[in-house]
Amino acid sequence: SYASVAEVLGGKIAVDSQITVRGWVRTRRDSKAGISFINIHDGSCFDALQAVVPAELSNYENEVQKLTTGCSIAITGVVVRSQGKGQSFELQATNVRVYGWVEDPDTYPMSPKRHSMEYLREYAHLRPRTNITGAVMRVRHTLAQAIHRFFDERGYLWVSTPIITTSDCEGAGEMFRVSTLDMLNVPKTEDGKVDFSQDFFGKEAFLTVSGQLNVESYASSLSKVYTFGPTFRAENSNTSRHLSEFWMVEPEVAFADLNDIAGLAADMLQYVFAAVLRERPDDMAFFAQRIKADAVERLQAIVDSEFVHMDYTDAIEILQNCGEKFEYPVEWGVDLQSEHERYLAEKHVGGPVILKNYPRDIKAFYMRQNEDGKTVAAMDVLAPGIGEIIGGSAREERLDILDKRIEEMQLPKEEYQFYRDLRRYGTVPHAGFGLGFERLVAYVTGVQNIRDVIPFPRAPKSAAF
Ligand code: 4AD
Ligand code: MG
Repeated sequence: SYASVAEVLGGKIAVDSQITVRGWVRTRRDSKAGISFINIHDGSCFDALQAVVPAELSNYENEVQKLTTGCSIAITGVVVRSQGKGQSFELQATNVRVYGWVEDPDTYPMSPKRHSMEYLREYAHLRPRTNITGAVMRVRHTLAQAIHRFFDERGYLWVSTPIITTSDCEGAGEMFRVSTLDMLNVPKTEDGKVDFSQDFFGKEAFLTVSGQLNVESYASSLSKVYTFGPTFRAENSNTSRHLSEFWMVEPEVAFADLNDIAGLAADMLQYVFAAVLRERPDDMAFFAQRIKADAVERLQAIVDSEFVHMDYTDAIEILQNCGEKFEYPVEWGVDLQSEHERYLAEKHVGGPVILKNYPRDIKAFYMRQNEDGKTVAAMDVLAPGIGEIIGGSAREERLDILDKRIEEMQLPKEEYQFYRDLRRYGTVPHAGFGLGFERLVAYVTGVQNIRDVIPFPRAPKSAAF
């Protein structure tokens, strides 16, 4: 029967049973005593399984001894307790079957040496074979599963929101336009260029920047809902924390205020960090060794402690008086840059911080105005090493104030009729937030560049395939 590497190393297979493990060669080492050691991996866990292959096998000389990193194989053998240190179990091979060879091993791009992240990005299709991308993708999976579990256990419904949309939720003008082109009969303008004015069956349409406005309509009836889907931003930012295409988790809660969702954000982060520490100890140990020595302790510390809350106004004072030289000057009213966010999280708090009540004029039209007339009930969660990972707010549920804001910001009122309806018919206070999923994965793994935590990154200067 077949078994995965994780099952064998995890002690799920009884000693002395005969099984077959299928995967790819990580390394091969031949000993003088006429045996070979093959490490085989299959993605099921961080470690590879060692198989001891005796020279007696009929294909030992013409196949086993020619195996190189990346070859696909099946090894049949008997599970035994490992003599060597480090591993619990190994395989005493009785048969090795080769599925696929690696042509020209000397030029194989994923040779077993350590490659830079920049190099691996050039091989987005082959990098899943490396230790680091494998570990990142297992942690990404565990985080996604834990997020769904967290909301499900609390009675939230998962609502899918559209990807093709007409409204710019954030009002930042950073949208990709969608066109319906008949590729067999591409419409041309008079000067012979492709005519993109056709748009979405005659209407102007874009890729969504956020599911929020749609999910608010479901919260206004189903009470507790969330989205988890792809979102798109046409900002031309070549930074280590921006993608053109990223995944966002957006809970929206009826009858909730700013502090309710700040608490929800903290609970969610603690829940998913605990899940990763419990379910991916081997991958986290690797990140501790490769990227950040305290990879495990810093997550555990967040699970064990209360989140620090801070007002934007207090944060500005801290930044002005901290003596740090910032590239961008700070004064009340400015939008915080990543250097400011990171200072607050890394140096001032030494962990994530929830910043609340931002100036109205730097925030989106839908945020609920505070009594002071200057600020809105907004919050960001700022994390060390990356800055903002969550942005959210209480929503303006009062139609007259919302309308005034739409006018002041000169937004096309007709486009927001559906949104206004939610305030016209049975409006309720409500609040929600958006978690940038890749920023979360980067934070948890310690990986420096957001392009390395999504399988195929889309960014202004990334390879497209
Ligand atoms: O702060 P943002 O723009 O908030 C919203 O879109 C709200 N409508 C969410 C809501 O309240 N439902 O984006 C939310 C999060 C950010 O905190 C950040 O983590 C992530 O999305 N994000 C990006 N991640 C990767 N690349 C980008 N270009 C990102 N832009 C935002
Ligand atoms: Mg934001």
